[in-house]
Amino acid sequence: MYLGIDLGTSGIKAVLVDQNQQVIAAHTEKLSVSRPHPGWSEQNPNDWYEATLRALDALRDSHPEALAAVRGIGLSGQQHGAVLLGENGAVLRPCLLWNDTRAETECSLFEHRFPLCRQITGNIAMPGFTAPKVLWVARHEPEVFAKVTHVVLPKAWLRFRLTGALIDDMSDASGSLWLDTGRRLWSDAALEASNLRLAAMPALCEGTDAAGRLNAELTTRWGMKEAPVFAGGAGDNAAGAVGLGAIHTGDAFLSLGTSGVVWVTTDSFHPGGNHAIHSFCHAVPNQWHQMGVTLSAAASLAWWSRVTGMDEKALLAELPEAPEAPSPVLFAPYLSGERTPHNDGSVRGGFVGLTQDTTRAEMTQAVLEGVAFSFRDALEGLAESGTVITEADVIGGGSRSPLWTAILASVLGVTLHRLANGEQGGAFGAARLARIAVTGEDVSTVCLPPERVASIAPADRLSGPYRQAYARYRALYPALKSIP
Ligand code: XUL
Repeated sequence: MYLGIDLGTSGIKAVLVDQNQQVIAAHTEKLSVSRPHPGWSEQNPNDWYEATLRALDALRDSHPEALAAVRGIGLSGQQHGAVLLGENGAVLRPCLLWNDTRAETECSLFEHRFPLCRQITGNIAMPGFTAPKVLWVARHEPEVFAKVTHVVLPKAWLRFRLTGALIDDMSDASGSLWLDTGRRLWSDAALEASNLRLAAMPALCEGTDAAGRLNAELTTRWGMKEAPVFAGGAGDNAAGAVGLGAIHTGDAFLSLGTSGVVWVTTDSFHPGGNHAIHSFCHAVPNQWHQMGVTLSAAASLAWWSRVTGMDEKALLAELPEAPEAPSPVLFAPYLSGERTPHNDGSVRGGFVGLTQDTTRAEMTQAVLEGVAFSFRDALEGLAESGTVITEADVIGGGSRSPLWTAILASVLGVTLHRLANGEQGGAFGAARLARIAVTGEDVSTVCLPPERVASIAPADRLSGPYRQAYARYRALYPALKSIP
């Protein structure tokens, strides 16, 4: 039996996976985000720990024998967050999360101090990443920074609480901007640019390596005879990729979750270029990946649902199952700024093209299309770095809408595959990593892809109209930027 724990932004999800890779139980405990100032997004690490204990206690109560039989535990985690630790592992302040955009100025400062940032880390400095956040703390809360002994990512902190070991995996470490991503080791120059030293970093391992054991107290609490081994685990997107079997060069998927992700597995390190394409290590050895991230994907529809006071299903029910033509209205989904391709934490979204006759349905369609255009931006960025996608799996809550998936296929010109059991998420991938860490089995025998249940091809008749609509959408960003 293997256990996968996903430390997400909205909750801790724990899944029990048996020898046949069947999920036999799952439990989620909710988390909330605090936004004390515009652009800030924080969580208290202790809340993650408490929620993890509650989730595992719930599994112990519902499936005591299965939990007691766990041999390996894998962690998947929201990426990029900065957990600052002082003496004796004390947490010095709330964690600055991946979607916190306060550190814009620090991005330029970091790149100025570390001119090889893009070549060595493969990424441009973005406020979502860890290094600029830590520089922000150094500049704005020097009394806190003075006490820092270690800086860790969210799931590395959770491992530390559960095992006592300070270790993290390559895929998650890639999102810090402190990793020499091509060589899979910490970069001294990158650390120096954040006033940090190697001693402040956790040890590095591959996602499939063994990395700590559950502490004795929790081993007893959950009825296990022997302390389960932890795997290195993965950042949530890489863990999701492991769960989808996206471990071979060229494997691609789109995730239409709160944020949107275009993922491609690569067999070597491809620095991302200037379009805010992320270039990270994969959670499995000798593989890397590229990724474009749009910050408000399903979050845009959720926002529109709040504004209209209608639930998402009811909004979508006002539209046809397949798009007939692009909406006359355009929507820019920059509700929390944007990563790919603009790397701009301060740009804001908007509707354009409203008339007296505009309907709610046209505006809903514009929201779906705006998100699809933003995915197209990511695809264009990937193409410029030499990575062309012609087909991809599609996952995430938004992909349950046939209309949204059809719009995406036509806007992107890419055939999209829906999966059976595609919604297992990072926790399932993490459980697979745990199995590999325990048994030493081959990655490709464990990480098989789920069955494809439907394929959605781009509609020829829409390719021209969507090309034109995308060109109009491209004009939105500079226009929105010009508004003071
Ligand atoms: C990836 C990213 C998000 C978070 C969400 O770069 O920022 O996908 O990992 O959990």
